[in-house]
Amino acid sequence: MRIHWRVVGGIADYGVHKAVSSQVDWRVIREDFPILRQQVRGHDLIYFDSAASSQKPGPVIDALRNFYERDNANVHRGLHALSGRATEAYERARQRVADYIGAASPDEVIFTRGTTESINLVAQSWGGRFLREGDVILLTVMEHHSNLVPWQLLAERKGARLRFLPVLDDGTLDVDQLSNLLTPEVKLFAFTHISNSLGTINPVADLCAKARALGAVTLVDAAQSAGHMPVDLQKLGCDFLAFSGHKMCAPTGIGVLYGRAELLDSMPPWHGGGEMIVSVTLEKSTFKKPPHRFEGGTPNIAGAVGLAAAIDYIEGIGRLSIFEHDRQLAHYAADRLTELPRTRVFGPKGERGALVGFVMDAAHPHDLTTFADQYGLAMRGGHHCNQPLMRRFGVSGTTRASFYFYNTMEEIDQMMEILQRAVRFFS
Ligand SMILES: Cc1ncc(COP(=O)(O)O)c(C=O)c1O
Repeated sequence: MRIHWRVVGGIADYGVHKAVSSQVDWRVIREDFPILRQQVRGHDLIYFDSAASSQKPGPVIDALRNFYERDNANVHRGLHALSGRATEAYERARQRVADYIGAASPDEVIFTRGTTESINLVAQSWGGRFLREGDVILLTVMEHHSNLVPWQLLAERKGARLRFLPVLDDGTLDVDQLSNLLTPEVKLFAFTHISNSLGTINPVADLCAKARALGAVTLVDAAQSAGHMPVDLQKLGCDFLAFSGHKMCAPTGIGVLYGRAELLDSMPPWHGGGEMIVSVTLEKSTFKKPPHRFEGGTPNIAGAVGLAAAIDYIEGIGRLSIFEHDRQLAHYAADRLTELPRTRVFGPKGERGALVGFVMDAAHPHDLTTFADQYGLAMRGGHHCNQPLMRRFGVSGTTRASFYFYNTMEEIDQMMEILQRAVRFFS
């Protein structure tokens, strides 16, 4: 793996990340992303859609190619060299993920297809066994459909009830309402770390501590945070954590569910098949311990190898540096967007994640996003799988510009020129 930058080590305090970020040569890092070196419709590509899926650096692409060229075979079942190597790489990736998020053991790391599958696993396995009629699942109004629909399905099946922590006008959670909503009937509190439409960074550790005090299990949707900032389970204190590889430089089709060991041990399998059993008779089966109990069938071995390479790459830069870099981009974009006439910018004024959603009176988000594409600017327009949140703010959708460490301030200036052009075109 190529490392062209130097990062100060031992930074324990978020207060110093500016100094850290300024030591990274972001332009050199951008060169690691071959896809960014292209023109779209005659213009240099500006990729502002990383909240939907990130681009992949050379070292991750190389790791996938190396795996398929040298080590590819099925895992766990084989007694030959290639299978041994593939198994080792797959289990090494699990350890890499455990270290990345501060899990106590790799056995607490389950590979899934992504955040959506991770949350469905908890809903079906944990929810199926432990939720009772009349129990309450507490969510927030800012949840992605992935952290809403699985709970709706579960609540319907079990006769449980859903409650929602409201969102304030500034895009933050109305945490004052917790005293009314977080009652002893709440068995699970599931919420996002960073909102994929507002950029709000939620106070995960506080929310988890409050839930734990009442005996509620917590699940954190880290889809928008795992690749953008330090995510340390020992600090967050959640019971489950879900994220997707493809939003953090890894391939699609690989993701993670972290679960606290005691909880995973108590949960039944959710997918039956090969890999997850100890013994099978025609009538009955016994099952492996976690994590393999939850990984029926051939897993995404190359995906796990790619995820480990992505983690190496991200940690080579440093998550504090990435956080600070992305934060500067998001703040700059949010500020500059206010220059546009009759434009509403969503999300908190203070700390925010690497994205900004906005609506221009002059154009529907779909039209604006299609207009931008004519200039090689890739953004996303629509409800972003946040229909209830859009309704909360009285809009059908927004245009979202989302950033990652390969983006630059100059690209935001170019975005502004394109949007100024859109104002003239649509007015
Ligand atoms: C906050 C959040 N949760 C969950 C998801 C779902 O992720 P995936 O489609 O990778 O399962 C997304 C994807 O955009 C997201 O932004």
